[in-house]
Amino acid sequence: MADGVEGASDTLWHGRFEGGPAEALMAFTVSLPFDQRLWEADIKGSQGHVRGLGRAGILNPAEVDSVLVALDAVAAEFSDGSFVFKDGDEDVHTAVERRVTEIAGDAGAKMHTARSRNDQVATDLRLWTLGAMRAVARDLIGLQEILLDRAQSCEGVYLPGYTHLQRAQPVLLAHHLLAHGWAFARDVDRIVDALERMDVSPLGAGALAGTSVAIDPVATAADLGFASVFQNSLDAVSDRDFVAESLFILALIGVHLARIGEEWVLWSSEEFGFVRIDDAYATGSSMLPQKKNADIAELARGKSGRLIGNLTGLLATLKGLPLAYNRDLQEDKEPLFDSVDQVRLAVSAVGGMIATATFVPESMAAAADAEVMVATDLAEHLVRSGLPFRKAHAVVGRLVRRHLAGEGALVDLAVAEIGPECAELFSPGAGAQNRTSPGGAGPIPLPAQIEAFVGDLAAARRRLGGSS
Ligand code: ARG
Repeated sequence: MADGVEGASDTLWHGRFEGGPAEALMAFTVSLPFDQRLWEADIKGSQGHVRGLGRAGILNPAEVDSVLVALDAVAAEFSDGSFVFKDGDEDVHTAVERRVTEIAGDAGAKMHTARSRNDQVATDLRLWTLGAMRAVARDLIGLQEILLDRAQSCEGVYLPGYTHLQRAQPVLLAHHLLAHGWAFARDVDRIVDALERMDVSPLGAGALAGTSVAIDPVATAADLGFASVFQNSLDAVSDRDFVAESLFILALIGVHLARIGEEWVLWSSEEFGFVRIDDAYATGSSMLPQKKNADIAELARGKSGRLIGNLTGLLATLKGLPLAYNRDLQEDKEPLFDSVDQVRLAVSAVGGMIATATFVPESMAAAADAEVMVATDLAEHLVRSGLPFRKAHAVVGRLVRRHLAGEGALVDLAVAEIGPECAELFSPGAGAQNRTSPGGAGPIPLPAQIEAFVGDLAAARRRLGGSS
């Protein structure tokens, strides 16, 4: 075995092979460096499987006990960092089984009866993803709470609302912050929906077709806390929809964070000056002493590219795979782990940045009180006196053109052409006050929105608690 891996002849599948695996094969196909983080799920899944083998009479009660004790010992080794990997350990499943067999002997060697790594890895990854996506949802609820808290403590603060990044109409800051909060509400909702679909045990599907051994996948699913069990063994081992769906949700969360990121890059610039980021959540420049940079906001924007890449990469991997298990499926884990990690880091950093920042109401008001921002209110004023909106729009448009041509302040031109009562539309903050329609950006509809948001948060918390 000149080019073989020393000590690696003890692979799980060595019986059929003459020599040991080539070094290049192991180096290329090994998944242990990244799938070892599934150890807890793997041990939990094995415990459920072993209890099932006991119920099926494949392992006697003493054997069940000794394997369960060995699995506990392996779990302890993983959690205190004393677990020692060996060269033949291709992946976490191999490593755990090898160690259990070292500890429990022949009883350990029975553990893999009526199971394949194909249904095992699908089970592990579902267990892991259920926990991880629940954690993401809880993180998001924390971020929503920060947005709500800031929205409730900036009474009366208004800023320009934008379309095409051109100033459009004034909006309350609370309204703007909650707009992002609603996007995260939908993300949480998507996670809870996805959790329901992924809460299906594939254990018992075997390599692809089930087994001749009298196991009971329904009982094992219940034992492991899954809500339901697979109906088709081929589908059970090849389905990675739950990973794709999670990656989509994580990518969309990334897109939502990126929108906040972009705004905060702008808002914290000298040009806007709407917000001062706390020193703890900003970075400096190695060369330019005066710089204070919004790196969290920039990376919230930047990391979305990678999250989208993780999704499209997995979809490309899944496309065209024949049933059932193919080793290609091993490529599901790294993007999933990466997207979960990156989103959790981003939510925490963006939450901290928002929670600690200082808004600058004067700068926001100065921008929002620009005269031309009153244009739509002037047109609506004319509408109230009976003029068709299209005509009112043209009247006000002409006034704005004359104002921009230097003929005078818009307020003076409006008073002269429309009447003295329009002067009050120009008073500071009037624009935000006047957004009165339900769901609108002013103080009159705001309390109802806040009440709905608080109700939605409570419902999300309940749904999440209920599905754990
Ligand atoms: N490391 C593998 C994966 O992640 C485990 C399943 C291996 N199955 C197999 N038939 N080689 O997919």
